[in-house]
Amino acid sequence: VGAGISRVVVGATDPDTRVAGSGIQRLRTAGLDVVTGVADDAVIAADPGYFHQRRTGRPRVTLKLAATLDGQVAAADGTSQWITGSEARGEVHRLRSAVDAVAVGAGTVLADDPQLNVRLDSYGGPQPRPVVVAGTRAIPDDRRVLARSPLIYSPRPIDMPRTAEIVEIAGDSRVDLAGLLKDLGARGILSLLVEGGPTLAASFAGSGLVDEYVLYLGQCFGLGVGRPMFDGLFATIGAARSVSIIDVAQIGGDVRIRAIPEESSR
Ligand SMILES: NC(=O)c1ccc[n+]([C@@H]2O[C@H](COP(=O)([O-])OP(=O)(O)OC[C@H]3O[C@@H](n4cnc5c(N)ncnc54)[C@H](OP(=O)(O)O)[C@@H]3O)[C@@H](O)[C@H]2O)c1
Repeated sequence: VGAGISRVVVGATDPDTRVAGSGIQRLRTAGLDVVTGVADDAVIAADPGYFHQRRTGRPRVTLKLAATLDGQVAAADGTSQWITGSEARGEVHRLRSAVDAVAVGAGTVLADDPQLNVRLDSYGGPQPRPVVVAGTRAIPDDRRVLARSPLIYSPRPIDMPRTAEIVEIAGDSRVDLAGLLKDLGARGILSLLVEGGPTLAASFAGSGLVDEYVLYLGQCFGLGVGRPMFDGLFATIGAARSVSIIDVAQIGGDVRIRAIPEESSR
């Protein structure tokens, strides 16, 4: 108003209830011409986590998995390194750099000891908060993620080093993931990257809590059954979940597929 602007074009009004159009109203009252509803989709796509979290109270969830061309995310012995090449692995670090938090289950912490941080040359931006979904198995004190002040969700009281923050959210016997997302949303986390493994991936996808899938298919076959992308039984074709494939790209020698659930309200 003070700068003497006469016309303002608004793409996607802010869904935050504390704003609720009051800024637009103020501009109009001051005599400015305010046009709303211009390029809403493009504006939302530029900052999808914000709009999602403000509308639902939950962070926007991206599920990333890297599999062999025949859909195995790890071999039967639990090894899974180098399924994809360096370009795809670099992209995963860029995915991490675009979110507020990165989650894995206890199985991945035990098998892979990941750090869940962004490791890119010349990256100086914020690091995502590591989130561990704990279960019945103890997480050893020497796991590298514990040095990164993780949030650990557990269905029962657990003893962990003081660097970790424990949040107890019991489902039946496992962590209730809807409750986990609600808690993350209340902490102001706008976007969450779930990085597997197959047990956690199946829980998120099966509960309809995934907003976008990013699947990398490496240039190799497992030639057999190791660990599938999603644990559990695919009992009958009627149980298949439809998705819309929104992008397919070759990343180095690998393939990246982005998909959204058909019922998703991006
Ligand atoms: N290629 C990839 O993209 C990729 C990514 C990550 C991991 N991996 C591979 O996956 C393997 C590990 O698989 P995983 O299935 O054991 O790991 P996971 O999905 O990361 O961890 C699963 C564990 O999390 C705990 N949990 C607590 N609440 C849960 C809930 N609501 N839903 C699901 N889990 C919950 C349970 O621990 P308790 O059993 O202790 O109760 C459960 O067994 C490793 O071989 C790793 O290399 C591959």
